[in-house]
Amino acid sequence: MKLLVCGGAGFIGSNFARLRAGEGDEVVVLDKLTYAGRRENLADVEHEFVHAGIEDPAAVAAAMDGADAVVNFAAETHVDRSITEPDAFIRTHAQGTFVLLEAARQRGLRFLQVSTDEVYGSIPEGSFTERSPLAPSSPYSATKAGADLLVASYLHTYGLETLICRGSNNYGPYQYPEKLVPLMILNALHGDPLPVYGDGMQVRNWLYVEDFGRGIGHVLEHGAPGEAYNVGGPDECPNIEVVRRIIELTGAGEELIEHVTDRPGHDRRYSLGSEKVRALGWQPQVRFADGLERTVQWYRDNVAWWEPIRSGAYREYYTRQYGRALG
Ligand code: NAD
Ligand code: DAU
Repeated sequence: MKLLVCGGAGFIGSNFARLRAGEGDEVVVLDKLTYAGRRENLADVEHEFVHAGIEDPAAVAAAMDGADAVVNFAAETHVDRSITEPDAFIRTHAQGTFVLLEAARQRGLRFLQVSTDEVYGSIPEGSFTERSPLAPSSPYSATKAGADLLVASYLHTYGLETLICRGSNNYGPYQYPEKLVPLMILNALHGDPLPVYGDGMQVRNWLYVEDFGRGIGHVLEHGAPGEAYNVGGPDECPNIEVVRRIIELTGAGEELIEHVTDRPGHDRRYSLGSEKVRALGWQPQVRFADGLERTVQWYRDNVAWWEPIRSGAYREYYTRQYGRALG
């Protein structure tokens, strides 16, 4: 199969491209290379690369020619950035998704949109199913929910074969260190403070990135057009517990934990019921304890990957976000 992987130079997209190229697919990656997209993420992946935004109709049309299916990972993905600078979220998720859908419609291509559990909002107990109402809380999740609705409309209106995969919190190799797990790992390894938002009792449903990639591939091949599939991780864990486990795995000290001002509108808990995708034959293979250990080891072993990030423009982002410089 020839796959157009949009946003394939980012964290999940590059892991997905690696998986699929390894299984014999022909992979074309289209990526704008924002701060989060890096060619280095694909260094060991056989692929063709197109440097463009998904909102660029000419580049998208050229990249889609000859493809059998489109998988869209391209997005702005950090909730904190969506609170301070929402503009790019609206452009990429609304206009960009629209441009992709139009090009896929003209060619009759199967189209899989990669989405998130955040479109359902927060849930105090129990788990969301695919029939739960969309109730997003942040500019990030609201624009992702908008994209989901637009995708669904292309099935209803034009009969395009659309699929949606809503993943829970991913972690693993190649994740940009603005997100909780890699940020805490790198800070712990450097002896920098570990900034925990509020009381740290917010709960996330952790999914190893390769499990999500396999889930997306499974839905692409076996999913029913027009359907959304939740792809949740096997374990839930409060943030403070995640940080404590990272302290243990890195040998850092508990005194590095610093409770800082909470994120505005912070969702307290995410939890996905994934029975529908499990019924298709997918299940997660990596438990959080094991995946976190592997992830810490990957960051220890790949200094050359994160050193240019941590010594570059990321430092300015960090100072703006946390009101203090990295050590
Ligand atoms: P990421 O930030 O690591 O990567 C995003 C990629 O998209 C980057 O390569 C970036 O350059 C590219 N991109 C951004 N805007 C673009 C545009 N306009 N045109 C083309 N490329 C563009 O993100 P990620 O964590 O890998 O997330 C990938 C997808 O999975 C997103 O759609 C996200 O909403 C979804 N998702 C993420 C998680 C998670 O925990 N990280 C969980 C569930 C779903
Ligand atoms: O749930 C899926 C979503 O997971 C994806 O759709 C998003 O793209 C992805 O960024 C992620 O969103 P979160 O907001 O859950 O992830 P983040 O890593 O930013 O934060 C995880 C939790 O940790 C959250 O409760 C906020 C908290 N946190 C985060 C950072 C960066 C802290 O306490 N301190 C921090 O410094």
